[in-house]
Amino acid sequence: MTEKTLAIIKPDAVKKKIIGRIIQRIEDEGFKISGLKMLLLTKEEAQGFYIVHKDKPFYASLTDFMSSGEILVMVLERENAIIHWREVMGATDPALARPGTIRHTHGFSIERNAVHGSDSLPTAEWEIGYFYKGEGKQPL
Ligand code: CMP
Repeated sequence: MTEKTLAIIKPDAVKKKIIGRIIQRIEDEGFKISGLKMLLLTKEEAQGFYIVHKDKPFYASLTDFMSSGEILVMVLERENAIIHWREVMGATDPALARPGTIRHTHGFSIERNAVHGSDSLPTAEWEIGYFYKGEGKQPL
């Protein structure tokens, strides 16, 4: 069944000017990009997005980083989109990600790991809603 996931190209990757390469990979993997926008999050917006991690030791640093520069927020669609995008991204820590994955190729550290993806169906629905709520022509 066709499924949707939220993908983010993070500030480290935008600054490195590898948006084009990552989008090419997304299309090569058979995803339809059904939403795409560039945003500069406020600290509060980054905190809201990562609210599930609010008690983690890396929350302050992560939300500083995610509000430090533009990000590209996308809705990706295909069969098994959530798991497939997670496989293409690779492990959260680039040092542990398999060769050929985006994080292995482009990630710098466990925090500055180039891309984000939803981890489950309920999370994907919540994350898509976080960035696309109330926009009539957007993919929800
Ligand atoms: P992401 O897939 O966006 O989901 C949560 C993010 O928190 C993760 O990618 C990393 O950027 C960051 N993160 C996860 N674990 C750690 C950690 N141990 N130290 C620092 N940042 C982390």
